[in-house]
Amino acid sequence: MATQHHLRTPLTALKGYLSMSLEGDFGEVGQMLKEKLGFCFDSTNRLIKLVNEFLDLSKLQLGKDILDIKEASITEMLQDVIAEVKSEADKKGIYLTLTLPEQNIPLAMADPIKLREALYNLIDNAVKYTEKGGVAVRLIIENGKLKIVIQDTGIGMTAEEVKNVFSHQFERGEEAKKVYTLGRGIGLFIAANIITEHKGKVWAESPGRGKGSSFCLELATE
Ligand SMILES: Nc1ncnc2c1ncn2[C@@H]1O[C@H](COP(=O)(O)OP(=O)(O)OP(=O)(O)O)[C@@H](O)[C@H]1O
Ligand SMILES: [Mg+2]
Repeated sequence: MATQHHLRTPLTALKGYLSMSLEGDFGEVGQMLKEKLGFCFDSTNRLIKLVNEFLDLSKLQLGKDILDIKEASITEMLQDVIAEVKSEADKKGIYLTLTLPEQNIPLAMADPIKLREALYNLIDNAVKYTEKGGVAVRLIIENGKLKIVIQDTGIGMTAEEVKNVFSHQFERGEEAKKVYTLGRGIGLFIAANIITEHKGKVWAESPGRGKGSSFCLELATE
């Protein structure tokens, strides 16, 4: 898409020149300027991430085929995401565990990069919205389908939130805003779109505010 190119090119240039300036490629940079350029660099990186997410989102909404489907290991994706989020869980002093089934785990037909992103968004949420206890991720094989349950002991959700949490209109829960102020309220929407594109199912459960949440997804293996 042409728009993609137009949005990404200037940002890439911006990031590149900021990085070179920081490295001193255009002359010596004083401490004060270095700090400010550093802020610009970090903001540019955040903006690039956001632009990429919105571009993915608009493509998903247009129904464009953005998935690159191949045989993929869900186990690897889960292990990978957990390794990435683990330090955040450790910092908070909460557990983050992965339980795999005893039986052989079939490969899934999936876009490993996109599905990993969806799993990342779900597991990252669980860790972000949990202050005590922790997050248990389980992979289960049920009726030939792969089921993933991400169960946390965190802030939980009201019945209203459970109902609306995946919709585009719903942005952020009141409690979530208090716990994690920087959220943008699009992670779940992106995750749900990716999972639906995979012809999978995703849903949320919670016994109520303060009582933890579970996010479940189901994927076909062929
Ligand atoms: N594990 C969870 N426990 C409780 N509430 C959750 C959980 N995951 C998501 N939510 C609720 O759903 C809302 C939307 O989640 P989503 O990931 O889309 O956005 P976010 O986490 O607020 O921001 P970001 O887009 O930066 O991820 C959250 O703000 C929160 O209210
Ligand atoms: Mg989130």
